[in-house]
Amino acid sequence: MANVKFMSGENVPLEMHKVRIVQKLTLLPVEERLGAITEAGNNTFLLQNRDVFLDMLTDSGVNAMSDQQLAAMMVADDAYAGSATFTKLESKVAELFGIPRFLPAHQGRACENIIACTLVKPGSIVPMNYHFTTTKAHITRCGGVVEELLIDEGLKPTSDFPFKGNMDPDKLKKLIAEKGVENIAFVRLEAGTNLIGGQPFSLENARQISAICRESGIPLVLDASLLQDNLYFIKEREAECRDMSLREITRALCDEMDIIYFSARKLGFARGGGLCVRDPGLFAKMRELVPLYEGFLTYGGMSVREMEAIVVGLEETMDEDIVSQGPQFIKFMTDELVKAGVPVVTPAGGLGCHLNAMEFLPHVPQSEYPAGALAAALYIAGGVRGMERGTLSEAREPDGSEKLADMELLRLAVPRRVFTLSQVKYAIDRIVWLYSRRDLVGGLEFTEEPAVLRFFFGRLKPTSDWQARLVQAFRADFGDSL
Ligand code: F0G
Repeated sequence: MANVKFMSGENVPLEMHKVRIVQKLTLLPVEERLGAITEAGNNTFLLQNRDVFLDMLTDSGVNAMSDQQLAAMMVADDAYAGSATFTKLESKVAELFGIPRFLPAHQGRACENIIACTLVKPGSIVPMNYHFTTTKAHITRCGGVVEELLIDEGLKPTSDFPFKGNMDPDKLKKLIAEKGVENIAFVRLEAGTNLIGGQPFSLENARQISAICRESGIPLVLDASLLQDNLYFIKEREAECRDMSLREITRALCDEMDIIYFSARKLGFARGGGLCVRDPGLFAKMRELVPLYEGFLTYGGMSVREMEAIVVGLEETMDEDIVSQGPQFIKFMTDELVKAGVPVVTPAGGLGCHLNAMEFLPHVPQSEYPAGALAAALYIAGGVRGMERGTLSEAREPDGSEKLADMELLRLAVPRRVFTLSQVKYAIDRIVWLYSRRDLVGGLEFTEEPAVLRFFFGRLKPTSDWQARLVQAFRADFGDSL
């Protein structure tokens, strides 16, 4: 990774790229921000992008593309069948992951659908380090049950443990012994574990889990959507891997896996997805679903232009300067917030900076969605759009009761190469201000609650007039500033 020291001693994440295409932003006055979030039912997914200043909702499909990716898109082969572009993608995936059997899909959750439909039966158990929303929804829809076997350290919001995304090998052995190998559909390891703050697992951990799976004959599945951040952390934090290239780490990790799938909205800096399957019989079964649900086998629902961009994006993922930008910006943001006393998830992970809403707003009960309330409050405070990752993102239990989340996080994604450091500093400033006025922030309650993936479309209202009082406080403290 580029090692550039500043004479001042200040730790600045220096960009190893320059910006050549820009998009104009607008920052609405605070009164209009209150109007926009009210219109959006206090759900940041329902805000119009024109009303958002810094869009930190997600890193999915919104990373900046490179000049090389844009150039590659111009030479895409549009053939419905036998497209040369697909052959390039298939070869690049085989070269990096070491598996020659690749199926294209329109995005990550489509791969999850194919895997769940093929391997999960009613009553099946799927152990994983931690769930992701769409992954769990597909498994439960097929009648399966998710078992989270994260190491205990993983759920501590503040820690200096380098690999909080590790799966606990002893918990896995115990589960297999108790439930029986025949009831376990597959084991899933998620790189850059999304819902616990973008936390990585180690190569050593992947090898331990793989040894258990191979001994028991259980397929091991890697969700590689956030692999690029995980690769960076393995290289930075795992002594054994310090002298390995990202390409070598990728191959060492993938050699342990039976199935690898990814959202190319994240891995590959484009939009799309796909899965590699080591076993030819399983590959043949999964292949049947691609023309049914995705598209013909040589595009799987993706545009050929996006496939060209993914080929280049995957190669760029092997470049340390490119994959380090996201985690370094996130570390900068996390470190500054820690200095200001704001509760954030540590150590800094990939994907984004995560505010710990349970500590930020200890007076808001989980039943009033503290992370959702914080998301609405931060939009009002600064036009910054984050994503609730807490109880609101969970589904209710079958009896209708709330499933309270392990953590209440407001995720502030840092899409790769999109924001400048001054924009990140602005976000930090508004978060620190909001923290100084946190007593004003109250809870939320549903006015419309969908049954499935409610966080996408649900509408909520504040439990009191706290939002109007927050606007007054902003005016009192910032005068006529936007
Ligand atoms: N797995 C992980 C770890 C993810 O983070 C995502 C998506 C998916 C699977 C599904 O991929 O969106 O292409 O269908 N995460 C997005 C996010 C939605 O905002 O974190 P997809």
